[in-house]
Order: sequence, then C-alpha cells, then structure tokens
Amino acid sequence: MAGALKMKLTRQLLSLTVAAGCLLLPATLWSAEARPQVAKSSCVECHSAFPPPTGVSEAQWAADIHAQKGLSCASCHGGDAKDPSPEGAMSKKAGFRGKPKRTEIPALCAKCHADGAYMRQYNPSLRTDQLAQYRTSVHGKRLAQGDTKVAVCIDCHSVHGIRSAKDTRSTVNPLNVASTCSRCHSDANYMKDYKIKTDQFAGYSASVHHEAMVVRGDLSAPTCTTCHGNHGAAPPGVASVENVCSTCHVFQAQLFDTSPHKAAFAAMGAASCITCHSNHRIVHPTDKFVGTGNEAICTNCHAAGDPGFAAAGRIHDDLVKLDEALKRSAEVLDKAERSGMEVSQARLEEAQGRDSLTKARVTLHSFQPDKVEQDTQAGMKIAAKTYQAGLQALAERDYRRKGLGLTLITILVVLAGLRLYIRQTESKNQSGGS
Ligand code: HEC
Ligand code: HEC
Ligand code: HEC
Ligand code: HEC
Ligand code: HEC
Ligand code: HEC
Ligand code: HEC
Ligand code: HEC
Ligand code: HEC
Repeated sequence: MAGALKMKLTRQLLSLTVAAGCLLLPATLWSAEARPQVAKSSCVECHSAFPPPTGVSEAQWAADIHAQKGLSCASCHGGDAKDPSPEGAMSKKAGFRGKPKRTEIPALCAKCHADGAYMRQYNPSLRTDQLAQYRTSVHGKRLAQGDTKVAVCIDCHSVHGIRSAKDTRSTVNPLNVASTCSRCHSDANYMKDYKIKTDQFAGYSASVHHEAMVVRGDLSAPTCTTCHGNHGAAPPGVASVENVCSTCHVFQAQLFDTSPHKAAFAAMGAASCITCHSNHRIVHPTDKFVGTGNEAICTNCHAAGDPGFAAAGRIHDDLVKLDEALKRSAEVLDKAERSGMEVSQARLEEAQGRDSLTKARVTLHSFQPDKVEQDTQAGMKIAAKTYQAGLQALAERDYRRKGLGLTLITILVVLAGLRLYIRQTESKNQSGGS
C-alpha cells in the first residue's frame, strides 16, 4: 500500500518536472531571441569595465538595434575591434574617429541612414530621408548655424541603446515621445536663451489627446511628433503645423473652409482651429463654448450688435434646446422602463436624436446658424416623438394599474361577500342544531 503511494508520488513528481521543462525550454529559446548574441569585440570587452559615459555595458549594447543587426562600435567610431590594446584598437591608422562632436552627429548617422542601397540590404521599408527632413526643422536649421543646444539624432533616439520605434521601451515610441521632448522643452533653465514658452508638455498632458492616447490607449490620438513631424518641420503632406488638425478632424476642417471665418481669420493672420481650441491644452468643449456667455469663445471677437454675436446666441440656444429635449425624453423613458414597460423602439429613435446633436456640434464649424438649425430641428422632431412614446407608455402603465386595482377590489368584494355568506350559514346551522 505504502509502496504504491510512493510510486504514484514519484510518477507525479516526474511528470511535473517534465512539464516544467517544457515550459522552461521555449522560455530560454525566447530569451535567447530577445537578447541576441552580440559579436565579441575588444571595444566592448574593455569599455564594459568603465562607468559611463566612457563605459558601455554589455547589456546596454545588446539592447541596441545596431548590435542586434551585427554592427560594431567601430561602425560608428572607426578603429580595430579585434585589437585588444587601446593604442591599436583606437589608432588613427585603423580609422578611429573618437567621440563625434554634436554638430557632426546627423552626418554620422546619415552615412548609413541616407544611403538607400545600404539600408535596403537590412530593411527595404525603412525611410532614408531623416537627414534631409531634419535639415528643414528648427532643430536642423539652428544646428547648421552652430547652436548645439537643439536636438540632434541621439537626443531623441538615445545612444548605445537605440531601439526600433515600435519597441514600447524606445524613447521615440508614441507613448514615450512627449517625455523625450519635455527633457529640453519643459526645462526653463535649459531653454532660457530662447523666446519660446516651456509649457507645451504641461498643456499636452492635460489635453483630450493625451487622455485618449495614454489613459485610453488610443494610438490614433496625436503626440508631439504626430503634429510636429518626426524629423521635418511638419508631418508629410501638411504645409504648416497649424493645419495639422484637419488630417484627423476632416469634417470640422471642411466646414471651416466654407465658413465666414476662413477669409476673416486669414485677414487677421489668425490660424484656423487653434485660435479657438489652442494647440496643446485642447480640452473637451461643451455647449457653453459657443454663445454669448462668459465661457463662450465667440465673445473674444464678437460684441452685442454684430451679426456674429447674434449667430453665436442662436446656435447656443438651438443646441441647448435639443439637449434639454433629449434629456426630458430620456427621463420619461427611464421611468417607463423602470415600471417594466417595453420602450426599446423609442430608445433606438432616441439614439438617432442624440446623433443629430453630435452632428449639429460638428456643423457648428460652418458658423451658419441656419445649417446648425437643420440638424437641431431633425433632432427636436425625434425628441418630441420619443417623449410622447414615453408619456404613452406611462399612461398605459397607469391604465393597467387602474385595471389591476379594479380587479383587486372586485375580488376583495367577492371574498368579503363569500365570508359573510359562510358566517351566516354557519350561524344558521348552529342555531338550528342546538
Ligand atoms: C583596452 C581598453 C580599450 C579598448 C580595447 C578600446 N578602448 Fe576606447 N577607450 C578606452 C579608454 C580608457 C578610453 C578613455 C580615454 C580617455 O578618457 O582619455 C577610451 C575612449 C574611447 C572613446 C572616447 C574618445 C573621445 O574622443 O573622448 C571612444 C569613442 C572609444 N574609446 C571607442 C572605442 C572603440 C570603437 C574601440 C574598439 C575599436 C575601443 N574604444 C577600444 C579603452 C579602450
Ligand atoms: C550608432 C553609432 C554608434 C555606435 C554603434 C557606438 N557609438 Fe559610441 N558614440 C556615438 C555617438 C553619436 C557618441 C556621442 C555621444 C554624445 O555626444 O553624448 C558616442 C560616444 C561614445 C563615447 C564617449 C562618451 C563620452 O561622452 O565621453 C564612448 C566611450 C563610446 N561612444 C564608446 C562606444 C562603444 C564602446 C561602442 C560599442 C559598444 C559604441 N560607442 C558604439 C555613436 C555610436
Ligand atoms: C554603419 C551604419 C549605421 C550607422 C552609422 C547608424 N545606423 Fe542606425 N541602423 C543601421 C542599420 C543597418 C539598422 C537596422 C535596420 C533594420 O534592420 O531595421 C539601423 C537601425 C536604426 C534604427 C531603428 C530603425 C527601425 O525602426 O527599425 C534607428 C532608430 C537608428 N538606426 C538610428 C541611428 C542613429 C540615431 C544613428 C547615429 C547615432 C545611427 N542609427 C547610425 C545602420 C547604421
Ligand atoms: C526631435 C526628435 C528626433 C530627432 C532629432 C531625430 N529623430 Fe529619428 N525619429 C524620431 C521619431 C519620433 C521617430 C518615429 C517614431 C515612429 O515611427 O513612431 C523617428 C524614427 C526614426 C527612424 C526609423 C524610421 C522608420 O521609418 O521607422 C530612423 C532610422 C531615424 N529616426 C533616424 C534618425 C536620424 C538618422 C536622425 C538624425 C539625422 C534622427 N532620426 C533625428 C525622432 C527624432
Ligand atoms: C536637446 C534638447 C531638445 C530636445 C530633446 C527637443 N528639442 Fe525641440 N528645440 C530645442 C531647442 C534648443 C530649440 C530652439 C528654440 C527656438 O526655436 O528658439 C527647439 C525648437 C523646437 C521647435 C521650434 C520652436 C519654434 O517655433 O521656434 C519645435 C516645434 C520643437 N523644438 C519640437 C520638439 C519636439 C516635438 C521634440 C521631441 C520629439 C523636441 N523638440 C525635442 C531643444 C530640444
Ligand atoms: C495636436 C497637435 C499638437 C501636439 C500634440 C503638440 N503640438 Fe506643439 N504645436 C502645435 C501647433 C499647432 C503649434 C503652433 C504652430 C505655429 O504657431 O506655427 C505648436 C507649437 C509648438 C512649439 C513652438 C512654441 C510654442 O509653444 O508656440 C513647440 C516648442 C512645441 N509646439 C512643442 C511641442 C511638444 C514638446 C509637444 C509634446 C509635449 C507638442 N508640441 C505637442 C501642435 C501640436
Ligand atoms: C492624429 C490625429 C489627430 C490630430 C492631428 C488632432 N486630433 Fe484632435 N482628437 C483626435 C482623437 C483620436 C481625439 C479623441 C476623440 C475621442 O475623445 O474619442 C481627439 C479629440 C479632440 C477634441 C475633443 C473632442 C471631444 O469630443 O471632446 C478636440 C476639440 C480636438 N481633438 C481638437 C484638435 C485640434 C484643434 C487639433 C489640431 C491642433 C487636433 N485635434 C489634432 C485625433 C487628432
Ligand atoms: C470660432 C471658434 C472655433 C473654431 C475656429 C474651430 N472650432 Fe471646433 N469647436 C468650437 C466650439 C464652440 C465647439 C463646441 C461645440 C459644442 O460642444 O457645443 C467646438 C467643438 C469641436 C470639436 C468637438 C466637438 C464635436 O462634436 O465636433 C472638435 C473635434 C473640434 N471642434 C475641432 C475643430 C477643428 C479641427 C477646427 C479647425 C478646422 C475647429 N474645431 C475650429 C469652436 C471652434
Ligand atoms: C478670433 C476672432 C473670432 C472668434 C473667436 C469668432 N469670430 Fe466670428 N468672425 C470673426 C471675424 C473677424 C468675422 C468677420 C467680420 C464680422 O462679420 O464680424 C467673423 C464673422 C462671423 C460670422 C459671419 C457674420 C456675418 O457677417 O454674417 C458668424 C456667423 C460668426 N463669425 C460666428 C461666430 C461664432 C458662433 C463664434 C464662436 C463659436 C465666433 N464667430 C468666434 C472673428 C471671430
């Protein structure tokens, strides 16, 4: 008996060990892939012994895409990676160039990255226009004038640990870009020689775009480089950064172009969207943003008596009226639903009413009250209908309750009568029996 138990336990232990082995084997294979064997070189062997910046540890270098693709320290710095002596490895004769100056870095990286034929051997889909683009940016232009405080390739990509942008640990991955830029752009001391503000990161961090991307993980929302371009002065296909909003918010942009503001803003030298919404601290707008009240943007430029002021008031009132009508309808439908009435058809129509309101808030960008009214009127009709449907459902509920009440009363009356009758017959029987 004891022997059999022992056997059973041993067998279980054995199968557990095998199972664990099966789990571990692919794990070791996987980690071999995640951290590929990097070619041995005298440079790494010697330099991994130093603290940074002279030191480059083996782990740091193994994470670098250049190491993973079989390149060496000498690919950027020159020298002889086979010679173990410092004099030999880092000799002028072996082409050693030492530490590049900041002004030399874009050309150093571009030696390979602007060479289409070379890069195609590794990755045909990789763009080779980074240096050409970089030269059109404020960073590139100022560097060409000798300003070394601007960003060069390694300020965004890091050095000796460069990863593909797709890697979520990369400094240029969309989730990390904002903090990479903020290292300089939020540092008031570093930026004190320049006339620009240092509030871009703070503004962006409080925006709907940051909320969408970082909090909700919506990668279709923009980060710094979506609007400013990765390397160039603006993203491809966008003439100027101030027009970038239209690449995503297409309908608002189309409507704005047909609006009276198109020519008026151009004449004032004002940009389109950002004049009202700002560029970094973009918040979720409400109906108070249009109109003649304190929180309305329209009163920045329009005053009582001018047509824009009147239009702002009208658009606001139409939006609010529809919003309130939809809320009223929702209230009755809620009430009806809570009492167990069937209102699913009205619920479907109510959703269409809310779509009309959403559409009206987009149409607002035509800044033509008649057009906005077309959308709000469509919504008002639906809201009136669903409100009626709600009232009807409540009336029917009351009717049914009344009917139920009457039935109950009838039953009670009958019961009471029955009881009376039984009592009477009982007392008759008693008196007859005695
Ligand atoms: C046996 C050790 C040793 C070997 C091998 C070695 N180095 Fe160095 N390297 C050093 C030391 C020490 C310094 C720091 C010298 C100093 O600060 O003056 C240095 C400095 C450097 C610098 C900075 C130079 C500057 O201008 O500030 C670079 C870049 C560099 N090494 C790259 C390489 C490369 C690439 C290789 C391989 C081809 C290599 N090293 C091989 C020890 C070594
Ligand atoms: C993709 C190009 C590239 C490769 C590959 C590369 N480096 Fe560098 N390295 C640079 C650049 C650019 C700088 C200048 C950094 C700066 O200005 O802060 C630099 C700086 C250095 C410095 C000077 C650090 C300092 O601030 O004094 C050393 C030392 C160095 N590299 C060693 C190495 C070693 C060792 C390897 C291989 C393990 C290596 N590099 C691989 C581009 C490269
Ligand atoms: C000796 C040639 C060479 C030099 C110099 C060089 N690179 Fe590279 N780089 C490559 C190769 C090859 C790849 C791998 C491309 C691939 O397979 O995706 C690469 C990949 C990259 C990637 C990842 C691209 C991706 O998303 O797949 C970045 C970012 C990058 N390099 C930046 C730099 C920077 C910044 C410098 C300068 C400090 C630099 N490189 C210098 C050859 C070079
Ligand atoms: C101001 C920051 C910044 C500077 C400066 C910068 N880059 Fe980039 N780079 C980025 C960002 C951001 C990306 C793209 C990330 C993405 O694809 O989401 C990128 C992508 C790349 C890629 C991958 C391209 C691809 O198609 O996937 C390479 C290669 C590259 N950069 C090289 C360079 C070189 C070379 C320089 C210097 C001439 C440079 N970068 C300067 C921010 C920068
Ligand atoms: C190494 C520091 C540094 C980093 C990192 C850096 N920048 Fe800059 N940037 C500067 C400096 C310095 C200027 C010059 C300021 C000026 O234009 O007067 C500048 C200028 C700019 C300008 C032009 C401002 C103007 O209108 O004059 C933009 C836009 C910009 N940077 C965006 C970015 C973005 C986006 C990133 C991140 C992807 C970034 N920068 C990363 C230092 C940096
Ligand atoms: C939704 C698009 C968008 C995003 C995201 C964005 N910007 Fe901007 N940024 C703009 C616009 C538009 C301007 C104004 C451009 C103009 O006036 O030509 C601007 C202006 C700037 C300027 C010039 C100085 C200033 O404040 O006017 C800098 C520097 C800058 N942005 C950096 C950043 C940085 C850093 C980030 C990320 C933290 C960022 N931007 C995110 C659209 C954006
Ligand atoms: C890369 C695409 C993209 C760009 C460029 C872009 N946005 Fe957005 N925007 C989004 C996304 C995604 C959302 C989040 C929508 C949501 O809340 O579901 C958003 C949200 C908004 C909202 C809030 C909408 C709401 O209902 O709360 C406003 C306002 C806005 N953006 C204005 C702008 C302005 C102004 C610009 C130009 C400076 C701009 N956007 C550039 C994609 C973009
Ligand atoms: C004259 C001021 C003004 C201009 C210019 C403007 N907007 Fe708006 N925008 C508003 C107002 C007001 C609202 C709020 C609507 C509401 O919620 O009642 C709004 C709402 C929005 C919304 C979110 C609400 C929605 O449902 O559409 C987005 C996104 C938006 N605007 C993008 C843009 C873009 C993109 C541009 C440039 C093409 C732009 N706006 C130009 C005033 C403006
Ligand atoms: C940055 C200033 C500015 C802001 C903000 C602004 N407007 Fe205007 N608007 C103008 C200018 C300038 C004109 C053309 C001159 C005029 O008619 O007053 C104009 C014209 C108009 C017109 C056409 C008037 C006509 O003559 O028929 C309407 C309608 C209008 N605006 C509505 C609005 C509404 C609604 C808002 C708020 C969401 C708003 N505006 C915000 C500057 C602005």
